[in-house]
Amino acid sequence: MSMRYLPYGHQSINEDDIKAVVEVLKGEWLTTGPAVERFESAAAEYTGASYAVSFSSGTAALHGAMYAAGVSEGDFVLVPPLTFAATSNSAIYCGARPLFADISEESLCLDPTLSEEVCANAGAPVKVLAPVSFAGYPVDLKPFKELAQRVGAVLIEDAAHAFGGRRGEMRVGREADMTVLSFHPVKHITTAEGGMVVTDSERFAERMRRFRSHGIVKSPRQFVRPYDGPWDNDMIDIGYNYRLSDVASALGASQIERIERFISRRKEIAALYRKALSHAAKDVKLPPDHPGHAYHLFPIWVSPQIRRPVFEALRSDGIGVQVHYVPVHLHTYYRERFGFAPGDFPKAEEYSAGEISLPIYTDMEDEDVLFVADKLSNAVEKHAKA
Ligand SMILES: Cc1ncc(COP(=O)(O)O)c(C=O)c1O
Repeated sequence: MSMRYLPYGHQSINEDDIKAVVEVLKGEWLTTGPAVERFESAAAEYTGASYAVSFSSGTAALHGAMYAAGVSEGDFVLVPPLTFAATSNSAIYCGARPLFADISEESLCLDPTLSEEVCANAGAPVKVLAPVSFAGYPVDLKPFKELAQRVGAVLIEDAAHAFGGRRGEMRVGREADMTVLSFHPVKHITTAEGGMVVTDSERFAERMRRFRSHGIVKSPRQFVRPYDGPWDNDMIDIGYNYRLSDVASALGASQIERIERFISRRKEIAALYRKALSHAAKDVKLPPDHPGHAYHLFPIWVSPQIRRPVFEALRSDGIGVQVHYVPVHLHTYYRERFGFAPGDFPKAEEYSAGEISLPIYTDMEDEDVLFVADKLSNAVEKHAKA
C-alpha cells in the first residue's frame, strides 16, 4: 500500500504524455496550431459526435455552449442544485437567471418530473435545460429531450463528470444538443485546465469557435459587412480568449488514447468499494450504479449528524475526502442576488448534508481502496454509536 496522502482525485501521467508535450514545446506552434485540431478530432471520434470545440476550461466550455444556444438577458436556464457552481454561473455570464429543480434520489441528477413543473411555472422563456451527470452517472436524457422540445429549449448535458460514460451502446456526447466536458486534473483525462463541447450541430460549433476567439471572424462567408481582402477580420459579436493551447491539446490527445483503460480502472475501484463497504450498508449509503457509469467521483452518504466527525477522522488518516457539493442555491451570491434560501430544494440539501466523496483515480491501488473502506467503516461505527 502506498503510504502517501490519498487525494479524492488525481491525474495519471505517463512517458508518452510527457513526450507529446515536449514535442510541441520544441515545435513551431504553442497555440492555435495542429495539436488543437488533433485533440478535437480524437474527442469527436471517441464520442461519435460530428464536431468538437476545445476551450481553456470546462467552465469556458459551458459559457461557450450557453452562448451558442442563444442564452441572453432575461432567459431562464434550468440546472440542478447539486452541481459545481460553474454549471449555473455560465448561464449568469450570459445574463440569464438560473432556475433550479430538485434532484431525484435514484440518480442524484436533475429530476425530470420536477423539472417539468419548474419550467411550466417559470413565467419567462426557458432557453436551456442543463442536466448534470453527477459523479459520472449518465443522467437519463430521454425525458429532458422531450421537455426541451415542448418548451423550445436547447439541451446541454454538463458531462464534466461523465466523459467515457455510456448509455447503452452510445457514448456520452451523442444525445444532447451539446455536451460539455472538463479536463481538470481530477477528471477522467486531463489537459491541466481545459474543456470541450461536442455536438452534431455545425451552427453551434461555428458559434462556439467564434466565441472562444473574441467573436472575430476571418472567413469571407462569415462576414456580415463586405469582405476587404485576405488580411481582413471582423468582430461580429462580443467574445473571449477561451482557446486551449497546443501544449495542453498535445497532453489531451495523448491522454485520450488511454481513456477506456482509465474508465475501466475507475469501475474496478468502484466495485471494490461496493464490496468492501457492503457490511456497512445500514450506515453508509452507496452511490447509484449504472452500466455506463464513468465514476468521476465515488460519493457516499452518511447520517448528517456524523458527517463532520467521519470526514475529519478520514482527513486525519491522510485520506483527502471532499464534499460534492454545497448546493449551488445556498452560496451567498445566489441567496443575495436571487433570494434562494435553505429548504428550497430539500433533496439536494439533505444529500449534500451527508455526502463524502472517497478517493477514486486511475493510479489508486487496490490496497488503498481497502484502506479507505476500512477507515470509513471504523469511523462510521465509532460515531454512529456515540
Ligand atoms: C459539474 C461540473 N461542471 C463544470 C465544471 C467546470 O470545469 P472546469 O474546472 O474545467 O472549469 C466542473 C468542474 O469541476 C464540474 O464539476
